Amino acid sequence: MNTTSEAEGSTPPRGGAMATGARMLRLCMAEELTATISGLGLMLMGSLIGLLQPWPLKFIIDLVTAHKTMPHFQQAAAHLLRAVHADSGRSSIVTLLCIGLIVISLVSAGISVLSTWMLVSAGLRMVFRLRCRVFDHLQRMELAFHDSTTVGDSLYRVTWDTYCVQSLFNEGLVPGISATVTLIGIAVIMVSQDWSVAIVALVVGSLLFVLVRRLEKPTTDYSTKVHEHESMVSTRVQQTLTGIRAVQAFGGEEREAGHFANDAQRSLMASLRLTVLQTASQSGVALLLAAGTAAVIWLAAERVIHGRLTPGDVVLLAGYTALLFKPLETLSYTISTIQGSVAGAHRVFKILDRPARIADSPGSRPLTEPARGEIRFEQVSFSYQAGHPVLSNIGLTIPAGSSVALVGASGAGKSTLASLIMRFYDPTGGVILLDKKPLQTITLRSLREQITVVPQEPVLFDVSVRENIAYSLPGATLEQVHAAARAAGAWDFISRMQRGFDTPIGERGVMLSGGQRQRLSLARAFLKNAPIVILDEPTTGLDAQTEADILTTIRLLMRGRTTVVISHHLGTARDVDNIIVLEHGAVAETGRHEDLLANGGLYRRLYDLQYSTTKAT
Ligand SMILES: Nc1ncnc2c1ncn2[C@@H]1O[C@H](COP(=O)(O)OP(=O)(O)OP(=O)(O)O)[C@@H](O)[C@H]1O
Ligand SMILES: [Mg+2]
Repeated sequence: MNTTSEAEGSTPPRGGAMATGARMLRLCMAEELTATISGLGLMLMGSLIGLLQPWPLKFIIDLVTAHKTMPHFQQAAAHLLRAVHADSGRSSIVTLLCIGLIVISLVSAGISVLSTWMLVSAGLRMVFRLRCRVFDHLQRMELAFHDSTTVGDSLYRVTWDTYCVQSLFNEGLVPGISATVTLIGIAVIMVSQDWSVAIVALVVGSLLFVLVRRLEKPTTDYSTKVHEHESMVSTRVQQTLTGIRAVQAFGGEEREAGHFANDAQRSLMASLRLTVLQTASQSGVALLLAAGTAAVIWLAAERVIHGRLTPGDVVLLAGYTALLFKPLETLSYTISTIQGSVAGAHRVFKILDRPARIADSPGSRPLTEPARGEIRFEQVSFSYQAGHPVLSNIGLTIPAGSSVALVGASGAGKSTLASLIMRFYDPTGGVILLDKKPLQTITLRSLREQITVVPQEPVLFDVSVRENIAYSLPGATLEQVHAAARAAGAWDFISRMQRGFDTPIGERGVMLSGGQRQRLSLARAFLKNAPIVILDEPTTGLDAQTEADILTTIRLLMRGRTTVVISHHLGTARDVDNIIVLEHGAVAETGRHEDLLANGGLYRRLYDLQYSTTKAT
């Protein structure tokens, strides 16, 4: 298996925008089916009641301008009123109809509020679940993926792209269904009133769809570009702020501001292009709508002049024309909203569809008891990028409970070799065994429970000292945390802190010194109490006294465990059972300190070099 360097997120959606949108909805809607169905049912009921709106007005107009007999419905209403109230005349019917107008609006609005609330909350819950899912998948992805993906980009996908599902649901599917049903209702009523007027409205409606279809591709392309550029902006902010010390130390502020302005400018241009396209298409739609309404009113008015329709019918048809174009307009915006959201959905699927390449293989089992700790490399090779081997043909055995030192020049592959034991990466060739079992046959979780890593750079979180230490053993008691801190020699400085173990330590532990961070990292290792310990340059950058103190702590930690210690400092290697000297990714020599010195090989040369430089400084 090899690492990835694929360019993520720039390819246009495959399989069509609608298919991607539908797939996203299928994925997220399953758990919200009840809310969706009841919300949609209510919404449709509201829309259908809303369709009654033009009728009271038509009746009123026909009533007040009545030079013809009243239609059946009105006659029935008038009879009904007279039965209740003997001298009910036209004005009472008008009052009743006006009240009807209000009631229709009230009922339809009330239902609409309720159904909107149900559907929007369902949409937001979908975003919540999708976010959790993407985040969970992302953090399980192997390191090679994270090596080739910027944090800013992943951040954008989890926080913003996941909103695509809400927009697909609440601005796409729901209004889409509601508008379609409304359209059908209006069409039925209009055709039953006057089919030629209905045909005019239909023609305008069809033209509208042709226009929208034409705009589909450029809108999707433009919004994908906006997403990409926005992601680049957040990546830039994240990179600059993460490296803020270097930026300020090297006076890079202006350069960074320039880079940022460039990125932001590209995002601005992309947003402007999208806005121009959207505004232009909205204007085109509005123009068509105006022309359509005018045509309908003209045709209907002609029919009134020829006595084929009543004035009330003109109002009714104009009313329905207004109501007809609303859902058509909604549908057209719905399509462009879906296209916009599909870009986000596509970026989310780019993550969800990519399986974690380092995961439990079928048939892998958890260890039933703590490992003894024998580690064996058989013909192990590894490369981060194909064609650039970093480790080649490594064969070595680290007996259970023994300690080895990995030494060698910078870039020789020491950290890489150690990270293969954890299965941060899988070898490109050969096999690594723990207690004679290939690592792939052990579940990842169970394997990693056996190993403690004290990394080259301590990884601390912006939470309290206590939570940082307990990260290696969730649920650890305060006593256990205290004991680990004592063992790691961290007790003194922690007690001197303002809030002791509850003191927050800032992002990546910025409020601590290098040595203090290292000790917290060691305290974690003590707390985890795993049978295998990997220490990667645990004393880099520390003064002689702190280094000596930490070395004492480390010796304590090594006791009774299989330990791999990586160090430039050959002094550290003196006490270990075996030293492995790496050179350009291969084992150059192995043996104990004295033997290697006597051999006069690479170790001797490194030792002499260090010894003389140490003496010289
Ligand atoms: N994530 C990565 N992606 C690609 N190449 C990498 C990655 N990490 C390390 N390398 C390359 O692999 C080689 C070995 O790196 P490694 O970190 O294992 O060296 P090292 O012996 O630990 O060095 P140092 O003593 O400086 O820590 C180097 O050439 C390095 O450039
Ligand atoms: Mg290293």
